[in-house]
Amino acid sequence: MTIELQQKIYIAGHRGMVGSAIVRELKRKGYTNLVYRTHQELDLTNQLAVQNFFAHEKPNQVYLAAAKVGGIYANNTYPAEFIYDNLMVQNNVIHHAFLSGVKKLLFLGSSCIYPKLALQPMGEDALLTGKLEPTNEPYAIAKIAGIKMCESYNRQYGKSHGIDYRSVMPTNLYGPGDNYHHENSHVIPALIRRFHEAKVNQNAEVVIWGTGMPRREFLYVDDMARACIFVMGLAKKQYDQVTSPMQSHLNVGYGGDITINELARAVAKATGFTGIIKFDPGKPDGTPRKWMNSARLNQLGWEPQIDLATGLQKAYEDFVERTG
Ligand SMILES: NC(=O)c1ccc[n+]([C@@H]2O[C@H](COP(=O)([O-])OP(=O)(O)OC[C@H]3O[C@@H](n4cnc5c(N)ncnc54)[C@H](OP(=O)(O)O)[C@@H]3O)[C@@H](O)[C@H]2O)c1
Repeated sequence: MTIELQQKIYIAGHRGMVGSAIVRELKRKGYTNLVYRTHQELDLTNQLAVQNFFAHEKPNQVYLAAAKVGGIYANNTYPAEFIYDNLMVQNNVIHHAFLSGVKKLLFLGSSCIYPKLALQPMGEDALLTGKLEPTNEPYAIAKIAGIKMCESYNRQYGKSHGIDYRSVMPTNLYGPGDNYHHENSHVIPALIRRFHEAKVNQNAEVVIWGTGMPRREFLYVDDMARACIFVMGLAKKQYDQVTSPMQSHLNVGYGGDITINELARAVAKATGFTGIIKFDPGKPDGTPRKWMNSARLNQLGWEPQIDLATGLQKAYEDFVERTG
């Protein structure tokens, strides 16, 4: 077994959608020394507990996929928790990873770091060029701070301590382990639930908010996990080729977007709903188009492997398994 496969790797947030996909992929690749704690065992907002954890475990690498995550409703209702929890989690993890000697860390951000009116597709250089979407500004500010934490530690300690902390910004993700909560889920899990319930209850139609015209991008979570491990495994020279010391994050997208109407039809197909799909144009649409420019990552050799129809089928199977 190679030395790389024996590295002690801490996956923060290993029971979340992304963290669990990273664990699956690391195991599939043959990594044997994975470390994790549940939220209950280790509250990452607790500085002392995080300090003790790192001092005791001394991992070699960290994937930081723990965060307080939610949709518009949750972000609007709990803005204080979104900014406090996320800043605390990432500050504690990044700082104590550094103090305990972690050389490689991957921070997961989000596409909401980009300005509301950023040019589409959004490139990495759109960061800090305009005002954020107000509904999730506290969350986005925390994520921007996370990128800047990694950058600042690299700039100050990169050479002296040999650290290399990187950041990836995923587009909308979906797949096994998603959150299907009524009020608090993203668009794909919400549609899966609605079409499934309509099928089971034999409803003739499903009405969806808005015109169905906005365009969005979606990436299957296992592709995201592969991207995380790919980025972590890049030689420093390669990573540095497409980033700069004060713009060190990389976008991770599918490389194309679809309308909500097309998405709804694809979800209906995956769930087996054969009734009518209607749109309610009286309800708000949100931003007309939102997708990421992932050319930098693609240039390094990463491409997604799972198309939407396949991904939705797998996501639906997971939904049935978990709720059935
Ligand atoms: N899902 C998406 O579409 C999407 C898109 C872009 C970026 N991302 C990013 O990807 C990362 C992971 O997201 P996800 O979708 O996997 O979220 P998730 O399913 O909600 O997972 C987050 C995990 O973090 C844990 N956690 C939260 N606060 C914690 C704390 N104080 N101490 C310890 N553990 C804590 C949660 O545990 P509990 O559930 O027990 O609290 C959960 O297991 C986040 O940084 C998110 O911003 C996600």
